[in-house]
Amino acid sequence: MNVPDQFDLSGRIAVVTGGTRGIGLAIAEGLASTGATVVPTSRTESDVEAAIQTVESHGVDSLAVPTDVTDDDDVRALFEQTADAFGGIDVVVNNAGVNPASALGRPENVDPEGYDFVLDVNLRGAFRCAQEAAAYLGESDGGSLINIASVGGLVGLPRQHPYVASKHGLVGVTKSIALDWAPDVRANVVAPGYVATELTAEVRENDTLRQSIVDRTPLDRFADLAELAGPVVFLASDAASYVTGTCLAVDGGWTAR
Ligand SMILES: NC(=O)c1ccc[n+]([C@@H]2O[C@H](COP(=O)([O-])OP(=O)(O)OC[C@H]3O[C@@H](n4cnc5c(N)ncnc54)[C@H](O)[C@@H]3O)[C@@H](O)[C@H]2O)c1
Repeated sequence: MNVPDQFDLSGRIAVVTGGTRGIGLAIAEGLASTGATVVPTSRTESDVEAAIQTVESHGVDSLAVPTDVTDDDDVRALFEQTADAFGGIDVVVNNAGVNPASALGRPENVDPEGYDFVLDVNLRGAFRCAQEAAAYLGESDGGSLINIASVGGLVGLPRQHPYVASKHGLVGVTKSIALDWAPDVRANVVAPGYVATELTAEVRENDTLRQSIVDRTPLDRFADLAELAGPVVFLASDAASYVTGTCLAVDGGWTAR
């Protein structure tokens, strides 16, 4: 037994949606630093090109396929082009996610279009990617699907109802996928707590709100981006070969309360 070798992702091909900034880019770099070929994608070509340079700086291959996860044709092309270029797909990280102002507020005030938009990106988008990736992951020796949810997938968060609905849905559907895809492909979900990214920029600019989050978090701080990469590398790797259908909270203790 050589445990460090279990974390080696050399020869694996990984796709990371929303992989061009924030948590997704940190995950893409984490996978690349352990040897995987990584395709980081989002909607904007210039963002994708910049992320590819970051990934390639780790000495691995990459590919530009700008993709909107709400678009069936885009998602199909993402997986087809990745498999054509590299001969298969072993790891898919569904990280693309949104939580716009139009979807925030008390339940009675939430705009229906904002609600549908959040569900379409965060839940339907991840499911769409899982569907299109299924055949490729099934052909892999170490197929691993990792969906990025949130503490909002495990407990309630005030004024974030569409987001919480989408993330609870994502936790549940990942467990269901794990059952249908076992024993060939593992499927797990990661539930981050609060991380310093653009998604939480407004929250962090509001001193009272930021402090209330820090006070609510047993580890007393927001997560650093790199603290999300390691858990995803673990779930992608052979170190997690007996782990499927689970939700790994990376939340500084938020959901322990
Ligand atoms: N930041 C946090 O505190 C936090 C906490 C818990 C969970 N999360 C989750 O982690 C994931 C990443 O969050 P982040 O904070 O890095 O956000 P971010 O806003 O910095 O990055 C989100 C990424 O998703 C992409 N994206 C958005 N809509 C897309 C679409 N339709 N198609 C393709 N790509 C799309 C964006 O271009 C961007 O690359 C999200 O799923 C989010 O819900 C974040």
